[in-house]
Amino acid sequence: MKVMIVDDSKTILRVLNSLLANKIDTELKIVECNSGEEALEKLKDTQVELILLDVVMNGMDGYETCEKLKANPKTAEIPIMFLTSKNEEKDIIKGFDVGGVDYIFKPFREAEFIARVKLQINLIEFKKQQFENLQGEVLLKVGEIGESRSKETANHVKRVAEYSLLLAKLYGLSDKMAQTLYNASPMHDIGKVSIQDSILNKPGKLTQEEFQTMQSHTIAGYELFKHSKGAILKAAAIVAYEHHEKFDGTGYPRGLKGEEIHIYGRITALVDVFDALGSDRVYKKAWKFKKIKNLFIEQKGKHFDPELVDLFLQNSSKFKKIRDKLQDKI
Ligand SMILES: [Fe+2]
Ligand SMILES: [Fe+2]
Repeated sequence: MKVMIVDDSKTILRVLNSLLANKIDTELKIVECNSGEEALEKLKDTQVELILLDVVMNGMDGYETCEKLKANPKTAEIPIMFLTSKNEEKDIIKGFDVGGVDYIFKPFREAEFIARVKLQINLIEFKKQQFENLQGEVLLKVGEIGESRSKETANHVKRVAEYSLLLAKLYGLSDKMAQTLYNASPMHDIGKVSIQDSILNKPGKLTQEEFQTMQSHTIAGYELFKHSKGAILKAAAIVAYEHHEKFDGTGYPRGLKGEEIHIYGRITALVDVFDALGSDRVYKKAWKFKKIKNLFIEQKGKHFDPELVDLFLQNSSKFKKIRDKLQDKI
Protein backbone atom coordinates (compact mmCIF):
# COMPACT_ATOMS: atom_id res chain seq x y z
CA MET A 1 0.00 0.00 0.00
CA LYS A 2 1.29 3.44 -0.94
CA VAL A 3 1.10 6.18 1.68
CA MET A 4 1.98 9.83 1.08
CA ILE A 5 3.45 12.00 3.81
CA VAL A 6 3.34 15.75 3.28
CA ASP A 7 5.36 17.91 5.68
CA ASP A 8 7.76 20.80 5.20
CA SER A 9 10.01 19.58 8.00
CA LYS A 10 12.61 17.08 6.86
CA THR A 11 12.98 15.85 10.45
CA ILE A 12 9.27 15.06 10.75
CA LEU A 13 9.33 13.27 7.41
CA ARG A 14 12.20 11.13 8.63
CA VAL A 15 10.49 10.31 11.94
CA LEU A 16 7.18 9.42 10.27
CA ASN A 17 8.89 7.37 7.64
CA SER A 18 10.72 5.22 10.16
CA LEU A 19 7.65 4.84 12.38
CA LEU A 20 5.53 3.66 9.47
CA ALA A 21 8.24 1.31 8.28
CA ASN A 22 8.89 -0.26 11.67
CA LYS A 23 5.60 -0.27 13.52
CA ILE A 24 3.06 -1.21 10.88
CA ASP A 25 2.75 -4.80 9.71
CA THR A 26 1.28 -3.94 6.32
CA GLU A 27 4.01 -3.33 3.79
CA LEU A 28 3.93 0.36 3.01
CA LYS A 29 5.59 2.31 0.24
CA ILE A 30 6.13 5.86 1.37
CA VAL A 31 5.97 8.85 -0.95
CA GLU A 32 7.42 11.97 0.71
CA CYS A 33 6.50 15.54 -0.19
CA ASN A 34 7.76 18.83 1.26
CA SER A 35 4.77 20.94 0.32
CA GLY A 36 1.13 20.88 -0.70
CA GLU A 37 2.10 21.92 -4.20
CA GLU A 38 4.51 19.01 -4.51
CA ALA A 39 1.81 16.62 -3.26
CA LEU A 40 -0.69 17.79 -5.87
CA GLU A 41 1.93 17.52 -8.57
CA LYS A 42 3.00 14.00 -7.59
CA LEU A 43 -0.58 12.79 -7.34
CA LYS A 44 -1.11 13.53 -11.02
CA ASP A 45 0.73 10.33 -11.88
CA THR A 46 1.14 8.49 -8.58
CA GLN A 47 -1.66 6.60 -6.89
CA VAL A 48 -1.62 6.50 -3.11
CA GLU A 49 -4.18 5.07 -0.73
CA LEU A 50 -3.65 7.25 2.35
CA ILE A 51 -2.24 10.74 2.95
CA LEU A 52 -0.72 12.15 6.14
CA LEU A 53 -0.90 15.90 5.76
CA ASP A 54 0.70 18.71 7.73
CA VAL A 55 -1.32 21.91 8.08
CA VAL A 56 1.16 24.76 8.49
CA MET A 57 3.52 24.71 5.54
CA ASN A 58 5.21 27.26 3.34
CA GLY A 59 3.05 28.07 0.35
CA MET A 60 -0.27 26.23 0.22
CA ASP A 61 -1.38 25.06 3.67
CA GLY A 62 -2.78 21.63 4.48
CA TYR A 63 -6.44 22.71 4.48
CA GLU A 64 -6.17 24.17 1.01
CA THR A 65 -4.26 21.13 -0.22
CA CYS A 66 -7.00 18.90 1.17
CA GLU A 67 -9.75 20.97 -0.44
CA LYS A 68 -8.02 20.72 -3.81
CA LEU A 69 -7.64 16.95 -3.46
CA LYS A 70 -11.29 16.54 -2.50
CA ALA A 71 -12.38 18.63 -5.50
CA ASN A 72 -10.54 16.37 -7.93
CA PRO A 73 -12.44 13.13 -8.68
CA LYS A 74 -9.13 11.29 -9.15
CA THR A 75 -8.01 12.00 -5.57
CA ALA A 76 -11.29 12.74 -3.79
CA GLU A 77 -11.59 9.27 -2.23
CA ILE A 78 -8.13 9.13 -0.66
CA PRO A 79 -8.45 9.37 3.14
CA ILE A 80 -6.47 12.30 4.58
CA MET A 81 -5.17 12.39 8.14
CA PHE A 82 -4.05 15.77 9.38
CA LEU A 83 -0.96 15.85 11.50
CA THR A 84 -0.38 19.27 13.00
CA SER A 85 0.58 21.46 15.94
CA LYS A 86 -2.53 23.60 15.37
CA ASN A 87 -4.65 22.30 18.21
CA GLU A 88 -7.44 24.79 18.78
CA GLU A 89 -10.99 23.63 18.43
CA LYS A 90 -11.62 25.75 15.34
CA ASP A 91 -8.56 24.20 13.65
CA ILE A 92 -9.82 20.70 14.28
CA ILE A 93 -13.29 21.56 13.04
CA LYS A 94 -11.81 23.05 9.90
CA GLY A 95 -9.76 19.90 9.33
CA PHE A 96 -12.89 17.75 9.32
CA ASP A 97 -14.86 20.35 7.34
CA VAL A 98 -12.43 20.27 4.45
CA GLY A 99 -12.68 16.48 4.34
CA GLY A 100 -10.03 15.02 6.67
CA VAL A 101 -10.77 11.64 8.31
CA ASP A 102 -8.57 12.20 11.35
CA TYR A 103 -6.74 15.02 13.10
CA ILE A 104 -3.66 14.27 15.17
CA PHE A 105 -1.76 16.84 17.26
CA LYS A 106 1.98 17.23 17.08
CA PRO A 107 3.94 16.32 19.07
CA PHE A 108 2.07 13.04 19.06
CA ARG A 109 2.27 9.97 21.26
CA GLU A 110 3.82 7.22 19.19
CA ALA A 111 1.45 4.43 20.23
CA GLU A 112 -1.60 6.55 19.58
CA PHE A 113 -0.35 7.72 16.21
CA ILE A 114 0.35 4.15 15.11
CA ALA A 115 -3.04 2.92 16.33
CA ARG A 116 -4.84 5.62 14.40
CA VAL A 117 -2.88 5.02 11.20
CA LYS A 118 -3.55 1.29 11.55
CA LEU A 119 -7.25 1.96 11.89
CA GLN A 120 -7.26 3.82 8.58
CA ILE A 121 -5.24 1.09 6.89
CA ASN A 122 -7.65 -1.56 8.15
CA LEU A 123 -10.59 0.42 6.85
CA ILE A 124 -8.96 0.75 3.44
CA GLU A 125 -8.21 -2.98 3.28
CA PHE A 126 -11.71 -3.85 4.42
CA LYS A 127 -13.23 -1.69 1.67
CA LYS A 128 -10.93 -3.24 -0.92
CA GLN A 129 -11.92 -6.72 0.24
CA GLN A 130 -15.61 -5.87 0.06
CA PHE A 131 -15.15 -4.51 -3.43
CA GLU A 132 -13.25 -7.60 -4.58
CA ASN A 133 -15.90 -9.92 -3.16
CA LEU A 134 -18.57 -7.97 -4.98
CA GLN A 135 -16.57 -8.08 -8.21
CA GLY A 136 -16.16 -11.83 -7.80
CA GLU A 137 -19.88 -12.32 -7.27
CA VAL A 138 -20.73 -10.26 -10.34
CA LEU A 139 -18.20 -12.10 -12.50
CA LEU A 140 -19.60 -15.45 -11.36
CA LYS A 141 -23.11 -14.38 -12.40
CA VAL A 142 -21.88 -13.02 -15.73
CA GLY A 143 -19.98 -16.28 -16.28
CA GLU A 144 -23.10 -18.32 -15.55
CA ILE A 145 -25.13 -16.24 -17.98
CA GLY A 146 -22.42 -16.64 -20.62
CA GLU A 147 -22.30 -20.41 -20.18
CA SER A 148 -26.07 -20.70 -20.27
CA ARG A 149 -25.95 -19.85 -23.98
CA SER A 150 -23.84 -22.90 -24.68
CA LYS A 151 -24.11 -26.49 -23.60
CA GLU A 152 -22.30 -25.85 -20.33
CA THR A 153 -24.23 -25.76 -17.11
CA ALA A 154 -24.20 -22.92 -14.62
CA ASN A 155 -22.30 -24.99 -12.10
CA HIS A 156 -19.44 -25.38 -14.58
CA VAL A 157 -18.06 -21.91 -13.81
CA LYS A 158 -18.57 -22.40 -10.08
CA ARG A 159 -16.66 -25.67 -10.15
CA VAL A 160 -13.91 -24.20 -12.34
CA ALA A 161 -13.55 -21.38 -9.81
CA GLU A 162 -13.30 -23.82 -6.88
CA TYR A 163 -10.88 -26.15 -8.68
CA SER A 164 -8.73 -23.17 -9.70
CA LEU A 165 -8.53 -21.95 -6.13
CA LEU A 166 -7.55 -25.38 -4.89
CA LEU A 167 -4.94 -25.99 -7.57
CA ALA A 168 -3.51 -22.47 -7.16
CA LYS A 169 -3.03 -23.10 -3.45
CA LEU A 170 -1.53 -26.55 -4.01
CA TYR A 171 0.89 -24.97 -6.49
CA GLY A 172 1.95 -22.50 -3.80
CA LEU A 173 0.52 -19.27 -5.11
CA SER A 174 -0.11 -16.68 -2.39
CA ASP A 175 -3.60 -16.55 -0.89
CA LYS A 176 -4.13 -13.25 -2.63
CA MET A 177 -3.23 -14.60 -6.08
CA ALA A 178 -5.27 -17.76 -5.53
CA GLN A 179 -8.28 -15.70 -4.50
CA THR A 180 -7.83 -13.42 -7.51
CA LEU A 181 -7.83 -16.43 -9.83
CA TYR A 182 -10.90 -17.80 -8.04
CA ASN A 183 -12.76 -14.58 -8.79
CA ALA A 184 -11.50 -14.28 -12.37
CA SER A 185 -11.73 -17.86 -13.66
CA PRO A 186 -15.51 -17.80 -14.33
CA MET A 187 -14.61 -15.42 -17.17
CA HIS A 188 -12.57 -18.00 -19.11
CA ASP A 189 -15.22 -18.53 -21.79
CA ILE A 190 -16.96 -15.17 -21.66
CA GLY A 191 -15.75 -14.44 -25.21
CA LYS A 192 -18.24 -17.07 -26.39
CA VAL A 193 -20.96 -14.43 -26.15
CA SER A 194 -19.59 -13.15 -29.46
CA ILE A 195 -20.03 -16.53 -31.22
CA GLN A 196 -23.28 -17.07 -33.09
CA ASP A 197 -25.62 -19.82 -31.89
CA SER A 198 -25.38 -21.82 -35.09
CA ILE A 199 -21.70 -22.45 -34.37
CA LEU A 200 -21.73 -22.37 -30.59
CA ASN A 201 -24.44 -25.00 -30.35
CA LYS A 202 -23.92 -26.91 -33.57
CA PRO A 203 -24.73 -30.56 -32.85
CA GLY A 204 -22.27 -32.06 -35.33
CA LYS A 205 -18.60 -31.54 -35.97
CA LEU A 206 -17.45 -28.01 -36.75
CA THR A 207 -15.95 -27.21 -40.14
CA GLN A 208 -12.43 -25.84 -40.23
CA GLU A 209 -13.78 -22.32 -40.63
CA GLU A 210 -16.32 -22.70 -37.85
CA PHE A 211 -13.64 -24.06 -35.56
CA GLN A 212 -11.56 -20.98 -36.22
CA THR A 213 -14.51 -18.77 -35.33
CA MET A 214 -14.99 -20.81 -32.18
CA GLN A 215 -11.36 -20.33 -31.23
CA SER A 216 -11.77 -16.58 -31.43
CA HIS A 217 -13.64 -16.65 -28.09
CA THR A 218 -10.24 -16.46 -26.41
CA ILE A 219 -9.38 -13.21 -28.15
CA ALA A 220 -12.89 -11.79 -27.70
CA GLY A 221 -12.66 -12.45 -23.94
CA TYR A 222 -9.24 -10.86 -23.78
CA GLU A 223 -10.48 -7.80 -25.68
CA LEU A 224 -13.20 -7.31 -23.08
CA PHE A 225 -10.76 -6.97 -20.22
CA LYS A 226 -7.43 -6.00 -21.74
CA HIS A 227 -7.60 -2.38 -20.59
CA SER A 228 -9.19 -3.14 -17.23
CA LYS A 229 -7.61 -2.06 -14.01
CA GLY A 230 -7.43 -4.04 -10.81
CA ALA A 231 -6.04 -7.49 -10.16
CA ILE A 232 -9.24 -9.46 -10.75
CA LEU A 233 -10.13 -8.02 -14.14
CA LYS A 234 -6.53 -8.22 -15.29
CA ALA A 235 -6.57 -11.89 -14.30
CA ALA A 236 -9.86 -12.30 -16.20
CA ALA A 237 -8.10 -11.03 -19.34
CA ILE A 238 -5.35 -13.63 -18.83
CA VAL A 239 -7.59 -16.65 -18.26
CA ALA A 240 -9.82 -15.72 -21.19
CA TYR A 241 -6.80 -15.33 -23.46
CA GLU A 242 -4.73 -18.32 -22.34
CA HIS A 243 -7.03 -21.12 -21.18
CA HIS A 244 -6.67 -22.97 -24.51
CA GLU A 245 -2.91 -22.66 -24.72
CA LYS A 246 -1.06 -25.95 -24.31
CA PHE A 247 2.17 -26.53 -22.44
CA ASP A 248 3.93 -27.90 -25.52
CA GLY A 249 3.01 -24.86 -27.62
CA THR A 250 0.30 -26.49 -29.75
CA GLY A 251 -2.63 -24.57 -28.26
CA TYR A 252 -4.34 -21.38 -29.36
CA PRO A 253 -4.63 -18.46 -29.97
CA ARG A 254 -0.91 -17.64 -29.67
CA GLY A 255 0.74 -21.04 -29.39
CA LEU A 256 2.49 -20.04 -26.16
CA LYS A 257 4.77 -22.61 -24.60
CA GLY A 258 5.57 -23.72 -21.03
CA GLU A 259 5.93 -20.85 -18.62
CA GLU A 260 5.19 -18.31 -21.35
CA ILE A 261 1.65 -19.24 -20.42
CA HIS A 262 0.73 -17.41 -17.24
CA ILE A 263 0.17 -19.69 -14.27
CA TYR A 264 -3.47 -18.51 -14.23
CA GLY A 265 -3.81 -19.74 -17.81
CA ARG A 266 -2.11 -23.09 -17.09
CA ILE A 267 -4.30 -23.74 -14.06
CA THR A 268 -7.55 -22.81 -15.79
CA ALA A 269 -6.64 -24.95 -18.81
CA LEU A 270 -6.34 -28.04 -16.64
CA VAL A 271 -9.37 -27.58 -14.43
CA ASP A 272 -11.59 -26.56 -17.35
CA VAL A 273 -10.82 -29.84 -19.14
CA PHE A 274 -11.22 -31.83 -15.95
CA ASP A 275 -14.64 -30.35 -15.41
CA ALA A 276 -15.78 -30.78 -18.99
CA LEU A 277 -14.79 -34.46 -18.95
CA GLY A 278 -15.89 -35.19 -15.42
CA SER A 279 -19.45 -33.89 -15.55
CA ASP A 280 -22.59 -35.17 -17.16
CA ARG A 281 -23.95 -33.18 -20.07
CA VAL A 282 -27.22 -33.59 -21.92
CA TYR A 283 -25.25 -35.06 -24.80
CA LYS A 284 -22.75 -37.23 -22.92
CA LYS A 285 -22.08 -39.08 -19.69
CA ALA A 286 -19.29 -38.03 -17.37
CA TRP A 287 -16.01 -39.86 -17.84
CA LYS A 288 -14.97 -42.18 -15.05
CA PHE A 289 -12.13 -40.73 -12.99
CA LYS A 290 -9.74 -43.48 -14.09
CA LYS A 291 -10.20 -42.50 -17.72
CA ILE A 292 -9.59 -38.82 -16.93
CA LYS A 293 -6.53 -39.74 -14.91
CA ASN A 294 -5.09 -41.68 -17.84
CA LEU A 295 -5.70 -38.79 -20.17
CA PHE A 296 -3.93 -36.41 -17.79
CA ILE A 297 -0.98 -38.75 -17.45
CA GLU A 298 -0.81 -39.02 -21.19
CA GLN A 299 -1.07 -35.24 -21.66
CA LYS A 300 1.40 -34.37 -18.91
CA GLY A 301 3.87 -31.92 -20.45
CA LYS A 302 1.87 -31.91 -23.69
CA HIS A 303 -1.46 -30.23 -23.08
CA PHE A 304 -0.85 -29.58 -19.39
CA ASP A 305 1.86 -28.23 -17.11
CA PRO A 306 3.47 -31.43 -15.70
CA GLU A 307 3.78 -29.98 -12.21
CA LEU A 308 0.08 -29.17 -12.15
CA VAL A 309 -0.82 -32.65 -13.39
CA ASP A 310 1.17 -34.18 -10.52
CA LEU A 311 -0.49 -31.92 -7.96
CA PHE A 312 -3.89 -32.69 -9.41
CA LEU A 313 -3.34 -36.45 -9.33
CA GLN A 314 -1.85 -36.45 -5.84
CA ASN A 315 -4.84 -34.52 -4.57
CA SER A 316 -7.59 -35.98 -6.72
CA SER A 317 -9.86 -36.73 -3.76
CA LYS A 318 -10.07 -33.01 -2.98
CA PHE A 319 -11.11 -32.26 -6.56
CA LYS A 320 -13.69 -35.04 -6.50
CA LYS A 321 -15.13 -33.60 -3.29
CA ILE A 322 -15.72 -30.25 -5.02
CA ARG A 323 -17.28 -32.02 -8.00
CA ASP A 324 -19.68 -33.93 -5.75
CA LYS A 325 -20.60 -30.82 -3.78
CA LEU A 326 -21.42 -28.83 -6.92
CA GLN A 327 -23.11 -31.50 -9.01
CA ASP A 328 -25.36 -30.47 -11.88
CA LYS A 329 -29.02 -31.26 -11.80
CA ILE A 330 -29.84 -32.27 -15.35
FE1 LIG B 1 -12.81 -21.86 -23.86
FE1 LIG C 1 -15.16 -23.88 -19.62
